[in-house]
Amino acid sequence: MNMATGDIRSNKVIMKEFPKVELHRHLEGTFHLPTLHRIAMQNGLPYTDDMDAFKSAVQFPKDSEPDFLTFLSKFKNDWYRSHQDVHDIVYDSVRHFSDDGLFYIELRFSPEHFAFHNDFDRMEITRIVIDAANAAAAEANVLIRYLVTFNRGKQNQYEMIDLYRTIRGLAIPEIVGIDLAGDETQYPPDQFTEFFRTVKEDGVYGTTIHAGEVSPAEQVWESIDRLHAGRIGHGTSTIDDEALQKRLIDEGIVLEQCITSNYQTGSWVDEQNHPLGRLYRSGVPVTINSDDPTIQDTDLTDDYIKACSYFDLSFDDLEKLNLIAIEGAFLPDREKSELRKKYLAAVKQFKDRFLVD
Ligand code: HPA
Ligand code: ZN
Repeated sequence: MNMATGDIRSNKVIMKEFPKVELHRHLEGTFHLPTLHRIAMQNGLPYTDDMDAFKSAVQFPKDSEPDFLTFLSKFKNDWYRSHQDVHDIVYDSVRHFSDDGLFYIELRFSPEHFAFHNDFDRMEITRIVIDAANAAAAEANVLIRYLVTFNRGKQNQYEMIDLYRTIRGLAIPEIVGIDLAGDETQYPPDQFTEFFRTVKEDGVYGTTIHAGEVSPAEQVWESIDRLHAGRIGHGTSTIDDEALQKRLIDEGIVLEQCITSNYQTGSWVDEQNHPLGRLYRSGVPVTINSDDPTIQDTDLTDDYIKACSYFDLSFDDLEKLNLIAIEGAFLPDREKSELRKKYLAAVKQFKDRFLVD
């Protein structure tokens, strides 16, 4: 296949249409700004009426040096005052997923984030989030599953186990995995071994751990060996450790990498030399993800364009990266092969429309 006139890999309008499978995106970081602004105004929160000023206040500051804790400080959980607020922000956020050409997403969210400020019932909040997101995803024609995020700094592992059991009791079939996020510098993997032993013993959910984002490769090893991670969030420090790369290849442990986020958090300083390209060419299962697009003031398509430009990826490479994502999805094999078939058909349609033989 040749490119159509010009290099369409840098054409945002066309790249938006490329079908994408995304394994790592936080609902808390992908909010629809106008809706959040309306909720903030309605609830009398101390933000300006001016949308541009509001945007600057809630996003990673444009004039900030890359910094992990500044990035994490943008996750505020005191916006919402009612179930309706939670429904509205979730529904409006997910409704826009088709703008990014999302084909399948494992969207992660923290029930604690949405419930904490008002002490809403966690079961009720989980149902509200899933119902609103399911309805919006159906409207946007995006296939969706969910990962439940537990935040390292917000609960200890015994509180996590209690909440986990409550959520497991809901038996919501679209919830397919458990995620550990938050500050890995202060809360290393060994503080969560009991929790993830429980998750493994239950055998109901896949497990993904944020690790090696701003910590050394040892934390990726520990997340695999002691927390039974089936996937790793970020894992940029994997580039320093060939034995670890071999382990990921041998066991098909997927890295969910996020180029823009990794720059803003200081996980990776030189964006154009991000490990994704080198790891991909070494056969390590890597994937392209957006992490927190609204906080970053980007979208997933921007990360695709960056990946193509920095690592000279072709559309065949992009297709392979998405097949890696499908392989790493927390779905039963039968659903994965169905998804793979549908995905390949969608990519063929894209190529027929935009690439010339
Ligand atoms: N790291 C850890 N926790 C997070 C992140 C991240 O990049 N984004 C949202 N929660
Ligand atoms: Zn993340």
